[in-house]
Amino acid sequence: MENTGTIRLGDENFEFPMIVGTEGEKALDTRTLRAKSGCVTFDEGYGNTGSCLSDITFIDGEKGILRHRGYPIEQLAERSTFLETSYLAIYGELPTQEELEIFANGVQTHASVHTGMHHHFEGFPSNAHPMAILSSMLNSLGAYYPEMSSNNRAQDLTHFDETAALLISKVRTIAAMTYRQKQGLPFVFPDYKMRYAENFLHMMFSEPYHQYEDTSGASEALDLFLLLHADHEQNCSTSTVRMVASGGANLFASVSAGVCALWGPSHGGANMAVIKMLEEIHASGDDGSKFIQDAKEGKAKLMGFGHRVYKNYDPRAMILGKSSERVLEGLGIDDPLLDIAKHLEQAALEDEYFVQRKLYPNVDFYSGILLKAIGIPVEMFTVMFAIGRMPGWIANWKEIAENSKSRIHRPRQIYTGHTIRDYLKMDER
Ligand code: ACO
Repeated sequence: MENTGTIRLGDENFEFPMIVGTEGEKALDTRTLRAKSGCVTFDEGYGNTGSCLSDITFIDGEKGILRHRGYPIEQLAERSTFLETSYLAIYGELPTQEELEIFANGVQTHASVHTGMHHHFEGFPSNAHPMAILSSMLNSLGAYYPEMSSNNRAQDLTHFDETAALLISKVRTIAAMTYRQKQGLPFVFPDYKMRYAENFLHMMFSEPYHQYEDTSGASEALDLFLLLHADHEQNCSTSTVRMVASGGANLFASVSAGVCALWGPSHGGANMAVIKMLEEIHASGDDGSKFIQDAKEGKAKLMGFGHRVYKNYDPRAMILGKSSERVLEGLGIDDPLLDIAKHLEQAALEDEYFVQRKLYPNVDFYSGILLKAIGIPVEMFTVMFAIGRMPGWIANWKEIAENSKSRIHRPRQIYTGHTIRDYLKMDER
């Protein structure tokens, strides 16, 4: 294959090197285009722009492939745990038993938050969205660890291992505290003997008179949910984390920005939107057929369907679909929303509109059903996504921070506003 590519502008040819990724993905390295030609590329939405070189996650959206550090998501879902996959995403290799113990201990040790932060929760109105609280709290958390959030790259990196374990741990505690505060319930302290997901359910649902007990495999299903969300290359929130990190900001500030980016309904907020949609369909007595018709006519959007990158089945949706069924069965729940979801999926997969546009279920299509079965309130769904995505954000921050050649991210624009005007002529209007 040619190792250069040419762009012709008018009569002039400009040659650029080709970059080929380890999976054969090709990119034209146009970093010198503007300097050479005075022209920039226009790629609104970045659908054709490789914003970085990354070793963390590989997606082949056409084939429905997702791998972290080379390991297929299906294998990780079957054999690994959320913490082990987090380690893999962050450090590049699966941990040895000893490395995993050290990492898990670090996570356990940091499970509680400074009591000074308890008061911060009281400042939020009871109807505040949990994502607003989570984002604020993660940024505030940095203030309690100034040595880890110095915005001095070398210093922040010295503390990286501890900061990473701390954030993976505390994002879960803050999420549970957010729920308790909103419910007017006292905070539940972490139990250091419990595993990651189990401890979260304990902090959410234990009461002084009743310790939460997982008898139905809910914590295992939750661990799988988190693992499946661990990283997903340069999506909206991860790109945001990298953008913030590129300016030299610390890890706390960068992941706090990631939470804000994740919040929107086109991204992490879709898992809430899916349940809302399924509930509305159920309430209207429709089995999904009318909704499909509305979506085709542009009157509605089939939430949990479609993806910027996947033009095939999102492999995570496949795994979560099966897992939701198992969990519901284990809990003895007969949720009509699952039937509607299955019907919608089937109908959409056979429908010309969806087939032509390559719209398949994405990870959010079944995740809401799973979370609902575990007892997580709908308002907390996107927060659950954020807990799962934390290792991916951390891994991407690390990649930027450790790259001494990384530059601040600063895209260009094509200005389409007024050309120069004269302030002194204001009176003439
Ligand atoms: N329902 C109905 N039609 C759809 C849907 C959908 N969910 N998604 C895309 N389309 C249609 C568009 O209307 C468009 O049709 P047209 O060609 O006739 O104009 C065509 O499919 C292409 O869609 P785009 O908007 O170009 O796709 P894009 O890549 O920009 O958007 C997105 C991807 C945002 C995920 C979109 O599919 C969507 O909004 N899906 C629903 C929300 C959702 O589930 N988001 C979660 C994404 S995964 C994640 O963040 C974890």
